[in-house]
Amino acid sequence: MTTQDMTTPTRGDVLLRATDVTKHYPLRADGFSRHRRTLRAVDGVSLEVRAGETLGIVGESGCGKSTLGRCLVRLTELTGGRVEFDGQDISGLSTRRLRPVRPGMQLVFQDPQASLNPRRRAGDIVAEPLLVHRYGDAAAVRRRVAELFDVVGLSAAHLDRYPHEFSGGQRQRIGIARALATGPKLIVADEPVSALDVSIQAQVLNLFADLQDEFALTYVFIAHDLGVVRHVSDRIAVMYLGEIVELAGTEELYEAPAHPYTQALLSAVPEIDDGSDASPRERIVLTGEVPSPVDRPTGCPFRTRCPYAREQCALERPRLTPTASGRSVACHFPLAG
Ligand SMILES: Nc1ncnc2c1ncn2[C@@H]1O[C@H](COP(=O)(O)OP(=O)(O)OP(=O)(O)O)[C@@H](O)[C@H]1O
Ligand SMILES: [Mg+2]
Repeated sequence: MTTQDMTTPTRGDVLLRATDVTKHYPLRADGFSRHRRTLRAVDGVSLEVRAGETLGIVGESGCGKSTLGRCLVRLTELTGGRVEFDGQDISGLSTRRLRPVRPGMQLVFQDPQASLNPRRRAGDIVAEPLLVHRYGDAAAVRRRVAELFDVVGLSAAHLDRYPHEFSGGQRQRIGIARALATGPKLIVADEPVSALDVSIQAQVLNLFADLQDEFALTYVFIAHDLGVVRHVSDRIAVMYLGEIVELAGTEELYEAPAHPYTQALLSAVPEIDDGSDASPRERIVLTGEVPSPVDRPTGCPFRTRCPYAREQCALERPRLTPTASGRSVACHFPLAG
């Protein structure tokens, strides 16, 4: 298989569609409860990702971002719902039937140290997916690996080094080269710069942007940090307790968050004083603990921490609903339309 076998999707077409995706983990019964309990890591997520765009996914630790990312590329089985990739329903495919789909969708992990085999040389790590997917003979694989190293800003001298001999930023470049090896259309990047020094983060984010232009890539970019996703995302999905509570264009989301949770997250992002007269954002401090995904609140999952919660919020679960301006919000009393 070569990268040329893959057709480039037309920019703007839906490349990935998730419909009501759930991922539940059964918990072992403990001494306090005789019932089997369920952790709802992802609880009814629907979204579309269009070819060539970057969809950012943000939310606090434990809200289900990584689990959703793994569902989207079928690295884990779904409990319910459907994922279509490039026009094909991949949600129920067996390992064998997923095999031809795999080269088209790749995951880049948060911690390059942990996701790269420490006993293998960098060149072999990048060659592995090529060998698995029978890219070509040994010489073709070597050429392709050298090309990928060049593309991500590593040199031929790096091919024989082991992961520990690289800096954090360089290790993430190896992870990116490996993800690119099979010529994917979609890359799900799960906090790809969170483990890096701030000074290195910008370089790796720029690399992501350059690669997207060069290879017409589509990204799902996961981060807990709204500052990071803002720079890379065309649209942003905000997650809370396993569901999407707001999905909007990046500028729109930052200008006028509609969900109280989005507003709270944004007000926690430090603002740089750019000397303009714009009044600083009102600060909303999130109070209370994030509820457990095992004991979700009734009604709106955010109501226990929401400064605007009213009676209806405890009674009725708000659904993610499109508004007139094209964004979607799951709130009975959105702050913007
Ligand atoms: N294999 C598993 N078995 C049981 N529970 C799991 C498993 N994987 C994740 N969880 C739980 O699912 C929830 C969502 O986890 P997930 O890792 O998706 O969150 P996250 O948003 O990526 O968090 P972080 O920002 O810390 O990476 C958490 O409560 C987590 O403990
Ligand atoms: Mg995670």
